[in-house]
Amino acid sequence: MIFFFLLSILALASSAIAQTFTDCNPTKKSCPADAALGTEHTWQFNSTLNDKIWNMKTGDIKYTNDGAEFTFSKEGESTLLQSNFYIFFGVVETHVKMARGGGVISSVVLESDDLDEIDWEWAGYNTSAVQSNFFGKGNTTTYGRGGTHVVANADIEFHNYTTYWDKDRLEWWIDGDLVRTVNYSEPNTVFGQNYPQTPCRVKVSNWPAGRKGAKQGTIDWAGGLVDYDKGPFTMTVQKMRVKDFHSGQEYTYSDHSGSWQSIDVKGGNSTALTEINKPPPKSMSEKWEELGEGAHIGIYCGAAAGGILGIAAFVIFFLRQRRKGRLEYALDDARHATERADAENYQNDWKQTEWKNRGYQQVS
Ligand SMILES: *[C@@H]1O[C@H](CO)[C@@H](O)[C@H](O)[C@H]1NC(C)=O
Ligand SMILES: *[C@@H]1O[C@H](CO)[C@@H](O)[C@H](O)[C@H]1NC(C)=O
Ligand SMILES: *[C@@H]1O[C@H](CO)[C@@H](O)[C@H](O)[C@H]1NC(C)=O
Ligand SMILES: *[C@@H]1O[C@H](CO)[C@@H](O)[C@H](O)[C@H]1NC(C)=O
Ligand SMILES: *[C@@H]1O[C@H](CO)[C@@H](O)[C@H](O)[C@H]1NC(C)=O
Ligand SMILES: *[C@@H]1O[C@H](CO)[C@@H](O)[C@H](O)[C@H]1NC(C)=O
Repeated sequence: MIFFFLLSILALASSAIAQTFTDCNPTKKSCPADAALGTEHTWQFNSTLNDKIWNMKTGDIKYTNDGAEFTFSKEGESTLLQSNFYIFFGVVETHVKMARGGGVISSVVLESDDLDEIDWEWAGYNTSAVQSNFFGKGNTTTYGRGGTHVVANADIEFHNYTTYWDKDRLEWWIDGDLVRTVNYSEPNTVFGQNYPQTPCRVKVSNWPAGRKGAKQGTIDWAGGLVDYDKGPFTMTVQKMRVKDFHSGQEYTYSDHSGSWQSIDVKGGNSTALTEINKPPPKSMSEKWEELGEGAHIGIYCGAAAGGILGIAAFVIFFLRQRRKGRLEYALDDARHATERADAENYQNDWKQTEWKNRGYQQVS
């Protein structure tokens, strides 16, 4: 139970973190409904994820052109991203470069409120392998659930790790090859009893399983204690496609059985779907287009006269924003940062093309 281990680390670090995990087990009591994904969507992990859909529970993500980097480098650090949405059977396709290093575990996990779990796990001591695993209702007493699969250069190349999950079977695919199937009814699942079958969140994590104080079994599994001198340890996720086999707004456990038959699906548009369908916030260059030709000429003149494009563009931009009553929007921290980057790109492009086209000397 990987997330039990992780959880105990997190519990030490912060008591606030454990809440969603143990908050409410629907096989023991009545719990709030789970927000559904209710659709299919691919997230590129190269720019900020929508925090109404994804929640960075621990650590930070660094977005690069390659994808999102999940990094830890010091004792006590760890990373965990989880979806706010749940899927009730479906497909999760993740393109991953595992983290290297003994004791380090990269993982992409589906997990439900009653601890059904479907795992991809990469142990950092072996960069040619990935492990598959599953649990039903957090039950760890059956053996032979784990699988190990060969995959070349898993730390330096992205590979496509796909989980297919429905009420009859569970499949793990690597780069288009089916590497493992678990049927609903077989000894490993205790003939269905321990088959994952309730709505699951998606969790992505890079974490130190090999740490002082962990169970010896866990440390051995992870390939020893993490050697922090060899850090930082980075797992990279390029993109993720998630398909929910149900469409709807939320999932409710109608009783304490934890069986898939007990899950009620409420129709309607999910929060995630609504967020996905929202138009992206306007970029600086789109706003620039909106300013119109008059303003453009004004800025060109101002820039040409003063030779200080950056200042002119910003002043006029912010004056416009103020006039439209949107200064607040522009100054919003998160958006401001991306718009700054956007503005810089824009200015570079502008300098390279417009200044040349117009025969102006670039003043640096
Ligand atoms: C992210 O990757 C996608 C697909 O390759 C690309 O279309 C998009 O422009 C990239 N976005 C950023 C911010 O790099
Ligand atoms: C990594 O795992 C693969 C697949 O199980 C195995 O063939 C290989 O020997 C392992 N390598 C190391 C270094 O443990
Ligand atoms: C776990 O599964 C085994 C095998 O079916 C069963 O005997 C045991 O009671 C289960 N444990 C729990 C806590 O449900
Ligand atoms: C990833 O693998 C799955 C399962 O084989 C496949 O359906 C999907 O098309 C693959 N994705 C890409 C981008 O090739
Ligand atoms: C799963 O079921 C299929 C038939 O639906 C069968 O071919 C396969 O051998 C079964 N796999 C296991 C691991 O029981
Ligand atoms: C769901 O959203 C679509 C637009 O994306 C809208 O046409 C439809 O009425 C919505 N359905 C509900 C039940 O709100």
